[in-house]
Amino acid sequence: MITGKRVRLRAIERDDIPNFVRWLNDREVIEFLLMNSPLSKAMEEKWFEGHLAAPITSAQVMAIEALSGDQWVHIGNTGIHNIEPVHNAAEFGIFIGEKDFWNKGYGREATLLTLKHGFEDLNLNRIFLNVYENNLRGIAAYKAAGFVHEGVLREAVYKNGRYLDVLVMSVLHSEWKGS
Ligand SMILES: CC(C)(COP(=O)(O)OP(=O)(O)OC[C@H]1O[C@@H](n2cnc3c(N)ncnc32)[C@H](O)[C@@H]1OP(=O)(O)O)[C@@H](O)C(=O)NCCC(=O)NCCS
Repeated sequence: MITGKRVRLRAIERDDIPNFVRWLNDREVIEFLLMNSPLSKAMEEKWFEGHLAAPITSAQVMAIEALSGDQWVHIGNTGIHNIEPVHNAAEFGIFIGEKDFWNKGYGREATLLTLKHGFEDLNLNRIFLNVYENNLRGIAAYKAAGFVHEGVLREAVYKNGRYLDVLVMSVLHSEWKGS
């Protein structure tokens, strides 16, 4: 468990699958994600088994729980993917599926905790992300957590009828404020 003030991260469980299916079938939630088609429970179970079978040194997905009153509520997932052992680099990804929890600082805190895990527990040197040009809420949350803009992949995704630029952002261990 990685615990902050209002957010904690834990390993994902098989029991979480119904939440993933509900969230990832919501077009508002997936507007800025690489998902374009309806997702069944069976498809998500297959993904979960693949995730369990993969070495923990290659990727880690964690459930985001937010403190709401005196209850911890599962609101989404965060993860460190494509971990490169030689370069000590990895890709960050996040989504909050419970839309009532958007825009309240939970994404920024979950991002900070994931970076802390990546730098302090996994000894990563570079953590990067890809974000669609029109995901202004995501870009603001990542900047607040310490990510800096690195470059642009021009018209790299097709979403909702048009091509979008994808911004690359990263944090290095040496510049991370939490270190
Ligand atoms: C992206 C996401 C993780 C951000 O988490 P969050 O908890 O909603 O974001 P936060 O509240 O921490 O930060 C949002 C920031 O965006 C700002 N913001 C919101 N709408 C904005 C807009 N239209 N333009 C500019 N800034 C905006 C907020 O003011 C806030 O900044 P502040 O803290 O400086 O005031 C979450 O909204 C989410 O999961 N969305 C759906 C899936 C997704 O987009 N995943 C990421 C794919 S790269």
